[in-house]
Amino acid sequence: MISLHQSIIVSFCLAVFITLPVSAADMAAGEQKAEPCATCHGPKGNSSNAQTPTLAAQQSTYLANQLKAYKTGDRITLTMLAMTANLTNEDINNLAAYFSSQKPAAKAGGDPALAKTGEAKASMCLGCHGATAQGNGQFPRLAGQHPEYLVQQLKAFKEGSRKSGTMNAITANLSEADFKALAAYFGSL
Ligand code: HEC
Ligand code: HEC
Repeated sequence: MISLHQSIIVSFCLAVFITLPVSAADMAAGEQKAEPCATCHGPKGNSSNAQTPTLAAQQSTYLANQLKAYKTGDRITLTMLAMTANLTNEDINNLAAYFSSQKPAAKAGGDPALAKTGEAKASMCLGCHGATAQGNGQFPRLAGQHPEYLVQQLKAFKEGSRKSGTMNAITANLSEADFKALAAYFGSL
């Protein structure tokens, strides 16, 4: 008979043995799947194109949600529809884990005067997007993202071409000038 104590140790060792290799394999698989993404999203998801979002350090839950939304056509862009068409849920989770664990290379920056105006309006965003706009789960990181990309998304939420109940409501009463100021501020974080 093995004691309770021994069996706890045995199951602990089994758990470590089973979980470690799996999560390591997921990362490696994600990195491999991420190769074609670098053309547009840059090395390790650090985009240098102002209209293409940086994926490095983005929240993994958010990334997985977006990849699923592109695949099903809930979020519409031809490029990303094509890029996600053949991804399985497992691929999506591996890609999300890979990109979320990459370090952001540099802040995209933003016009300093505009950023100051944006800072004054940003408090209403931080409750969901995090105190330093680092994101949390389904709420995306905005810190360091390209301002041009952020403005594009805010407009899409306002027009309703990108659907998210929360963001559609929040953008309804903001102007394009507000979007530019907020985007400059978040890009500079
Ligand atoms: C040909 C260029 C191109 C390639 C290749 C590409 N993307 Fe994209 N991706 C874009 C553009 C442009 C956007 C912004 C689209 C929009 O406005 O919805 C985008 C958006 C995204 C987003 C949404 C990010 C956010 O902050 O909401 C994710 C996630 C993403 N891409 C992941 C990937 C992954 C993973 C791959 C590789 C499997 C990939 N992309 C390949 C151009 C590309
Ligand atoms: C009540 C919570 C909440 C508040 C407050 C909020 N957001 Fe969001 N935001 C979200 C959620 C949830 C998403 C993801 C939507 C999705 O999955 O498509 C999002 C997405 C975004 C995106 C898209 C990011 C990307 O990478 O494509 C931008 C930009 C954004 N929010 C900006 C803002 C700004 C600016 C404010 C303040 C004016 C704000 N949000 C306030 C919940 C919130």
